[in-house]
Amino acid sequence: MTLPEPSADALATSHALAQAIANDIAAADGWISFAHYMQQALYAPGLGYYAAGSRKFGADGDFVTAPEMTPLFAQTVARQLAELLPQTAGQIMEFGAGTGRLAADLLLALDALGCAPQRYCIVDLSPDLIERQRATIAERAPQLLSRVEWLPALPERFDGIMLGNEVLDAMPCELVIRGDDGQLRQRGVTIRDGAFCFDDRDISDPTLAALAATLIPDIPGYVSEISLANRAFIHTLAGVLQRGAILQLDYGLPEREFYHPQRHMGTLIGHYRHHTIQDPFYLPGLMDLTSHVDFSAVAQAGIDAGLDLIGYLSQAQFLINAGITEELARHDPDDIARYLPMSTAVQKLLSPAEMGELFKVIAFGKGVDIDWCGFRHGDRCHAL
Ligand SMILES: C[S@@+](CC[C@H](N)C(=O)[O-])C[C@H]1O[C@@H](n2cnc3c(N)ncnc32)[C@H](O)[C@@H]1O
Repeated sequence: MTLPEPSADALATSHALAQAIANDIAAADGWISFAHYMQQALYAPGLGYYAAGSRKFGADGDFVTAPEMTPLFAQTVARQLAELLPQTAGQIMEFGAGTGRLAADLLLALDALGCAPQRYCIVDLSPDLIERQRATIAERAPQLLSRVEWLPALPERFDGIMLGNEVLDAMPCELVIRGDDGQLRQRGVTIRDGAFCFDDRDISDPTLAALAATLIPDIPGYVSEISLANRAFIHTLAGVLQRGAILQLDYGLPEREFYHPQRHMGTLIGHYRHHTIQDPFYLPGLMDLTSHVDFSAVAQAGIDAGLDLIGYLSQAQFLINAGITEELARHDPDDIARYLPMSTAVQKLLSPAEMGELFKVIAFGKGVDIDWCGFRHGDRCHAL
C-alpha cells in the first residue's frame, strides 16, 4: 500500500513531536505508558495531531464524521435536544467540536424549532480547531455566533445539555497484554534502535491492575485497551452537571463484545488520509489514533457518579427514533441534485454495514424527565 507523502512542513512537525516524546521517555527512565504516548501524539501543544494544523476532517483530511456528512444529523439530534432544553437552564456544552459543523447546524436547527439555546459553550483541546469552529459558525450561522462561547476549562457547575460526538474514542487509552505465562502486563513505549516500540512491564497502578484482572480474558497474547480517561471524563462531567443531560455518540461496544476472546488484538487503530494504519507509531502527530469505546465502562462511571442512565442504543435506532426519516421527507425527492447526497448520507448513518450499528448513543440525565424521544425504542442497556 502506498500512502500519500506528507509535506516537508508536516514531516518537520512530526519529527519535532517524535523528539519531544523521546525526551519524555528518556526523562522517565526509558519507558512511558501508551496513554502518555497517545496523549502526546494527539494533544502535545503545537505538535500533536489535534493541536497542530493538519486538515483532519473531510475528503482531503483523514476521516469523515457524521456531522460533516449531512446537516440532517444535527437536525435530528436537535429534535432530541429541543425536548430537553426547556427542562434545563437552556444551555448546551459541546466537547471536541471538530470543525464546528455540529454546533452551527444544531444552532440553526434549534432556532428553527423556536428554542435556540441561550448559550452554546464549546470545550476543545485544540487551538487550531477552535479557530475553524469560529469560522464555520460565522459562515453558517452568523446570527447565532454571539451565543457561542469557548471555555478554556470546565466550569464548576453547569445546568443544561453536555454533548459529544466522537470525543470518547479520541481520549488516550492504556494497553494491557496477557503474557504467554498468563501474567497481565502494561504495554508501554520505549525506544530501540532509534525507533518507538512496545515494551511490557508489570502493572503498577492498582486501578488499572484491578480492571485488567476482570476485563482481559485468560488467553496468552491477548492485548486490549482500557480507558481510564473515559471513566474519569464521565465522572468529572457528572460532578459539574447540576441539572440536565449528557449525550455521547461514538463507535464502541459493550464490555462483553469489547473484551471478546476473538478480539484478541484490541481496537486501537490509526487513521491517515482515509487509510487505516495498524502501526500506532506511524508519523506521530500526522495520524489520528483512536480506540473503540467500552460503553459498559462509560455507563458504570455515570451510574457510580449518581447519574440516571437514560438509554444506550445503536446510532441507527437513535436517529430513527428521533426522526431522521421525517427530516429527510421534508426535502423534495425530485430535486435529485440536492436529495441524492442527503439520502446517501442518511443511508450511511443508518446502515448496519456502515455507521448505524458500530456507532452507539448513550445518555445520562440528572433531574430531568427520563422519557426521551431518541430512546423510546430499541434500548440496549441490558447488553451493557
Ligand atoms: C474525532 S474528533 C471529533 C470532532 C467532532 N465532534 C466531530 O464529530 O466531527 C475528536 C475531538 O475531541 C476533542 N477532545 C478529545 N478529548 C477532549 C476533552 N477531554 N475535552 C474536550 N475535547 C476533547 C479533540 O480535540 C477533537 O476535537
